[in-house]
Amino acid sequence: MIESLEGKEILITGGLGFIGSNLAHRLVHEKAQVTIFDAMLDPYGWNRANVKGVEDRINIIKGDVRDRTALKKAMENKDVVYHLAAQVGREISMENPYLDTEINCTGTLNLVQICAEMQCPPRVVYAGSRGQIGEPVYLPVDEDHPTLPTDVYGINKLAAEKYILLYGHVYGFPAVSLRLNNAYGPRCQMQHGFYGILNWFIKNAMQEKPITVYGDGLQTRDYVYIDDIVQAFYLAGIDRRTDQHVYFIGSGTETKFLDMVKQVIKSVGKGEIVHVPFPPQRESIDIRKFVVTIEKFHQHTGWLPRVDLESGIEKTVEFYRQFYPDYIRD
Ligand SMILES: NC(=O)c1ccc[n+]([C@@H]2O[C@H](COP(=O)([O-])OP(=O)(O)OC[C@H]3O[C@@H](n4cnc5c(N)ncnc54)[C@H](O)[C@@H]3O)[C@@H](O)[C@H]2O)c1
Repeated sequence: MIESLEGKEILITGGLGFIGSNLAHRLVHEKAQVTIFDAMLDPYGWNRANVKGVEDRINIIKGDVRDRTALKKAMENKDVVYHLAAQVGREISMENPYLDTEINCTGTLNLVQICAEMQCPPRVVYAGSRGQIGEPVYLPVDEDHPTLPTDVYGINKLAAEKYILLYGHVYGFPAVSLRLNNAYGPRCQMQHGFYGILNWFIKNAMQEKPITVYGDGLQTRDYVYIDDIVQAFYLAGIDRRTDQHVYFIGSGTETKFLDMVKQVIKSVGKGEIVHVPFPPQRESIDIRKFVVTIEKFHQHTGWLPRVDLESGIEKTVEFYRQFYPDYIRD
């Protein structure tokens, strides 16, 4: 059964970041009461400019998911909690595994533990990751694919997903995990390439800086545009058929890394590719080929991605041209 989010109390953890802020815009448009809970941590993608235009209709709390008291207060009387706050750098997770574990694993455990203690726990929708899978043993990857993450980030994202589903089952609240693929689009940070690399390449092309491609660039990814992700989160927030399920959210299209870079250069109208060898710490956690099937989420909700890579990159470039000073600080 589908209801609407109009008038509903929504909490978005990590809501000042790329995906959370785009979701916030959509939910304000749907007339929901939106609260953002974000620690404003660097080098992550939080940006006040991300909520420009809706800031007067959002309650913004500076808070950390590691702080259980603050999180509990923010979660009071919420109908839906979208849990997006995370340490999102894969290499950072290898350099600082305790930080990753504290935010991604214990932070999530805090959230579900609070749900377990509530009279009326909210619906919890979690942003999972393709990183939970590791190197695929078959393609396209589906929800039954084995999980063997190649980094600490993937392990903690997987553990967090399992906590949410376990607690939902035991304490009787609806829980959904959307395992996202390579997301791109407006409002993603472009300052560095720890993650969100497509957007970082757009910046490099705009600034006529070289675009470095590790190895031959023939590794493949499943790039998914932000509006399609937001629609998936919206549906997971209202559709009871998704209760206690895990889904892959992607485009379902396998794209060579090099072809993505060429499209960035075409859309920006300038840019130069430089091939460099993989740094060893990066190569050991890199995945060669990746694409998912989106059949399960489509079957349960009717959702399909609408924006192909070419038009998605065009829209993204257009956005950064318009709001360049909000996203570029050098
Ligand atoms: N962008 C992608 O391609 C992608 C792919 C797979 C999964 N995801 C998941 O989607 C979610 C959102 O990612 P994003 O791309 O919007 O990243 P982002 O860096 O733009 O946003 C993350 C936000 O979380 C906040 N945050 C970090 N630690 C926090 C903490 N301890 N407490 C509260 N807030 C904290 C940051 O300040 C930031 O605003 C994450 O859970 C990420 O793992 C993203």
